[in-house]
Amino acid sequence: MIILGIETSCDETAAAVVADGSHLLSNVVASSMDLHRAYGGVVPEIAARSHLESIMPVIDQALGQAFPAAAGRTKKAAPGERQTERAWRAIDGVAVTYGAGLGGSLLVGVMTARTLALVKNKPLYAINHVEAHIYANFITRTNLPGYKLTAAAPAFPMLGLIVSGGHSQLVLWRDHFNYTLLGQTRDDAVGEAFDKVARLLGLPYPGGPSVGQAARQGDPFRFNFPEARLTTIGPGLAELRRQSPFPGRRQEAAKHGYDFSFSGPKTAVLRALQRLVGVGYEFPSQKLAERLSEAQKADVAASFQRSVIETVVSKTVAAYDEFRPRSVVIGGGVAASAELRRLLAKKLPLKVNYQDPKLMTDNGAMVATLGCFKAQANRPVADPYSLQIEPNLSM
Ligand code: KG4
Ligand code: ZN
Repeated sequence: MIILGIETSCDETAAAVVADGSHLLSNVVASSMDLHRAYGGVVPEIAARSHLESIMPVIDQALGQAFPAAAGRTKKAAPGERQTERAWRAIDGVAVTYGAGLGGSLLVGVMTARTLALVKNKPLYAINHVEAHIYANFITRTNLPGYKLTAAAPAFPMLGLIVSGGHSQLVLWRDHFNYTLLGQTRDDAVGEAFDKVARLLGLPYPGGPSVGQAARQGDPFRFNFPEARLTTIGPGLAELRRQSPFPGRRQEAAKHGYDFSFSGPKTAVLRALQRLVGVGYEFPSQKLAERLSEAQKADVAASFQRSVIETVVSKTVAAYDEFRPRSVVIGGGVAASAELRRLLAKKLPLKVNYQDPKLMTDNGAMVATLGCFKAQANRPVADPYSLQIEPNLSM
């Protein structure tokens, strides 16, 4: 089963080819991040325009990388036939992210995938971006240089922590396509909070890596940015707790829900900066950074990172204690964070197999991988004449 995955939900135009849900044949990502940097965040109109320019070259490159001219996988080509035509013969289906994401950006990927599915006569799989982030962990083999892949695919039940620019969720999978949302952010996503704090500190976009970099020189205990205490319990978790016994469930471990909130710590950072600089609420926040020393910025970055990562890790460990899954995996851009990986490994009694950080930020490989599992399980295909985008798709 060989699937072409297409991903355009935010600022990365990405395509990849994956075989059997585990073997990465190609992975191409073109980012418009440099264009957005001047604005401190993604500008949807610029992202959509840039997808439009990059999408076909990115797909061609992904096909070319997966099936180099002499590849043995493809049938013998007729003389003069283009390399991508040979590659298309080996492709069994097209998977595309149809949500969640920016409307204009999603449209480019979905319309391209619909057209290709029709023209090349391939089944089309509609992929949920957030689910796909977790499926990046199923990739275990590649001949591509520069990847350090996880050694084994995760086992079920599997606890997944998704931490990206748009999502922060804890999800428990019993099996493929059978999962429960345990908790999610009530306001900002983790990556979004990093990006906003980076802007306050005058650090470049994307904020996760730049705050992480600044944090290395700082004191993580200089400031205390309080963790939000949430008591909300979503319907999925409530239902799961009613089902007794969920295999492995430890009732006594359940003291709380698993929802997150990150807008509190972000506002606490703003207040701390105003105090450090000695100005009031009316002072323009974009001018605070000019008045901070490098050491102050590093201390705020380190303390903020500690607060957010401790929150995420403690909820993950609590969910592990309650449900005792056989594996814990992370996905989404913030899952590339070395500090998150370090603390999670330290606090979890189970060994976490970390995936190559290149597969944590947005990419087509995760989309193709989930597409492979859908195809293998004969999940419903999407209609290439009518598949619509769903910018607010949830899990
Ligand atoms: O998954 P992703 O590429 O896009 C979304 O689906 O949102 O995640 C982007 C987010 C950004 O907020 C970025 O600041 C954060 O992931 N990020 C990181 C790292 N790389 C990207 N955060 C912490 N450490 C990193 N190395
Ligand atoms: Zn993402």
